[in-house]
Amino acid sequence: MDDESDAIVIGGGVVGCAVAYSLASCGLQVLLLERGGLAEEASGAAAGMLAPLAEAHGPGPFLELCLAGLALFPSLARELEEATGLDIGLSRCGLLRVALTDEDEESLRRRYRWQLDTGLPLTWLEGEEARAVEPALSPGVRAAVLSEAEGQVEPQLLAHALARAAQARGARVLLSTPVLGIVRRGRRVYGVRTPSGIVRGRQVVVAAGPWTGRLLAGIGLHLPTPPRRGQMLAYRGRPVGRIVWGPEGYLAPKATGVTYAGATVEAVGFRRRTTQRGLRRLQRMAHTLVPALGRAEVAAAWAGLRPGSPDGLPIIGPVPGWDGLSVASGHFRNGVLLAPITGRLLAQALTGQPTDLPLDPFSPARFLA
Ligand code: GLY
Repeated sequence: MDDESDAIVIGGGVVGCAVAYSLASCGLQVLLLERGGLAEEASGAAAGMLAPLAEAHGPGPFLELCLAGLALFPSLARELEEATGLDIGLSRCGLLRVALTDEDEESLRRRYRWQLDTGLPLTWLEGEEARAVEPALSPGVRAAVLSEAEGQVEPQLLAHALARAAQARGARVLLSTPVLGIVRRGRRVYGVRTPSGIVRGRQVVVAAGPWTGRLLAGIGLHLPTPPRRGQMLAYRGRPVGRIVWGPEGYLAPKATGVTYAGATVEAVGFRRRTTQRGLRRLQRMAHTLVPALGRAEVAAAWAGLRPGSPDGLPIIGPVPGWDGLSVASGHFRNGVLLAPITGRLLAQALTGQPTDLPLDPFSPARFLA
């Protein structure tokens, strides 16, 4: 740990692993520090949906980022498999957005209009047509949009594959190594403090999920990344073959033979535990979309803490006015989808290449007066 790295990445979630992979792919000497194991926080709790049309509320930079994120996955999956032998479970299973009420249908139709402009293959279905595609859907579903290009991945495998591929490109990955603070001289960051001493790096990238804000606060920077708890559960069985996205939550059938139901969004600080209330809400949502799940056994329940941001958009890029400090956090509900594009954009920015997309809308600058 004594030599200086070109870049230290703090955080071994999907975003940190993707940043480490992209930086190592650009030839930088990378050190990734993770206080526990890889993908043990939000990345390990995520369903792994690759659903750019789910969270964007209309055209704009965030939608562009999400679409660019999705587009990277097919080649990334091949690259990672070649480099590591790991299959990240990329599935283009498709996604059905469903409407249960008049109001839902109106909102689905409004979204469908601008979503068509993305060029992704989308089909409007009436209720019966939707049930012909997914027979287990509730008779209460009155309309749906079938989106065939959206899908999912296994987030833990993705994080592990990215970390291993980064290692194959020379990165070092140290687990069980907490970062206690960022070290600096004035506004020049030159490393991090760990329990075994200072580790030097020319660049420090903070990708520590909801703990990012705390690390930055330690050097006087106010860039909040508040935790947003998401509770999830898994039913045994797979009554649907596609992701089903309803107004109150989603169902994601997994290759292991279970169906995930998610997720709550709760501002409860760093309390990562499930609650009876949260799980009951998820069960109500799941049974409303697919009544057969009302008879299915719940195999597991868990929760994770997503990193929020003050405006709901990710925070990606060098911190203006500082030397050697960047952030990759605040991805809220989109960490898995956006991890590879985040790594790629940040690596482009830090190595002086033109970025695939403008980083300004996501720059930490927007929170720093
Ligand atoms: N990506 C969906 C969620 O965070 O619940």
